[in-house]
Amino acid sequence: MSRPVPQPHPVAEHRANDPDLSIAGLRKVLGSQTVLDGIDLDVSAGQIITVLGPSGSGKTTLLRLICGFERADAGVIRLSGRLLADGRKTHMPPERRGVGYVAQEGALFPHLDVRRNIEFGLSRRQRATTDVEDLLAAVGLPASYANRAPSALSGGEQQRVALARALAPGPHLVLLDEPFSSLDAGLRVETRNAVAKRLRDAGATAILVTHDQDEALSMGDKVAVMHNGRLAQVASPRTLYDRPANLDIARFIGEAVLVPGITAGDTVDCCFGRLQLTTQVPRPGVGDRRDVNVLIRPEQFRLCVDHAADNQTIGSDAFPSTACVEQILFYGHDARIQLRLRDGQPFTATVPGFDLPAIGQTVSFRVAGNVYTYPY
Ligand SMILES: Nc1ncnc2c1ncn2[C@@H]1O[C@H](COP(=O)(O)OP(=O)(O)O)[C@@H](O)[C@H]1O
Ligand SMILES: [Mg+2]
Repeated sequence: MSRPVPQPHPVAEHRANDPDLSIAGLRKVLGSQTVLDGIDLDVSAGQIITVLGPSGSGKTTLLRLICGFERADAGVIRLSGRLLADGRKTHMPPERRGVGYVAQEGALFPHLDVRRNIEFGLSRRQRATTDVEDLLAAVGLPASYANRAPSALSGGEQQRVALARALAPGPHLVLLDEPFSSLDAGLRVETRNAVAKRLRDAGATAILVTHDQDEALSMGDKVAVMHNGRLAQVASPRTLYDRPANLDIARFIGEAVLVPGITAGDTVDCCFGRLQLTTQVPRPGVGDRRDVNVLIRPEQFRLCVDHAADNQTIGSDAFPSTACVEQILFYGHDARIQLRLRDGQPFTATVPGFDLPAIGQTVSFRVAGNVYTYPY
């Protein structure tokens, strides 16, 4: 007769090198839809993870499960070794989780001033030790704002107050759901820099949800790409951009120029000539000759624009290829140029916004840096 297998104690000892937040096999069904399916995610203490995904991919649902506003259908969530959720068996109530949450919208209580908003939900003892002015300063707001009504603040200022409120109880983990999406471009960058600095200063572990790639790449120590309720890739911003796990992610993150090629050793031959492969990670098949899709980013194309001596440098070693300029979109800081090779292959180059070619001009160019490939 076999003996019963000993069951692990639900609250395991938390070891120093364990992840601060650990999510395994998380699943959530809403109505007839599996909104989250098999989510695995580890976050180290003090890390900021950004979750990037299109609208409807399940980002908000993930945050609501972590903070306890929703119950999981399956999967385990641990925070600093404490079991927050285990399928339908265990569900720690939100107020005991030590998780700060900045919701997507409607963050502040309109009838309470800024101070009362920040102090809302704190125990009497916490309130006595909470320095509202210090929290305001940390999110880049003057102390005098403490007595203002939320209606007397701009959208960006309200978001900062919402963050200060989430940070007030000193949470283990801070969750931010698209906190900057309602702000206009300039304020968005300023506010997210202030928020990132505050999170880092506080040593907080944080998950920031966004559908903005710039935000995800610039704020995250790691970026988790969410698609249809699944995490398609979790990687550093650099890795995600340089070596997307598949073609769908390559097209989703940034812009991708994809052309057929044939590998030859650590290079690949394609319509742009012989290009160097990204070699940090040995990949099966590198070294063989094989058909691949080559991923090139638009900013890798370096154009030689010579207005005075048109076409003189064409075919030079420095700029071995030529293409015809079909369209230019000027953004000030940079420009997107639509080009076409003589064989008909169209591609996009992103170049600095000065010294642009003319439409119809033939320019010479080269591909800078290494390229990544996918099996054809
Ligand atoms: N209460 C609900 N009942 C049924 N479906 C829901 C509910 N809440 C969200 N959903 C669905 O779950 C999916 C993910 O929603 P959500 O987590 O809000 O995505 P995101 O934040 O990435 O936009 C969407 O398709 C949405 O329609
Ligand atoms: Mg959402």
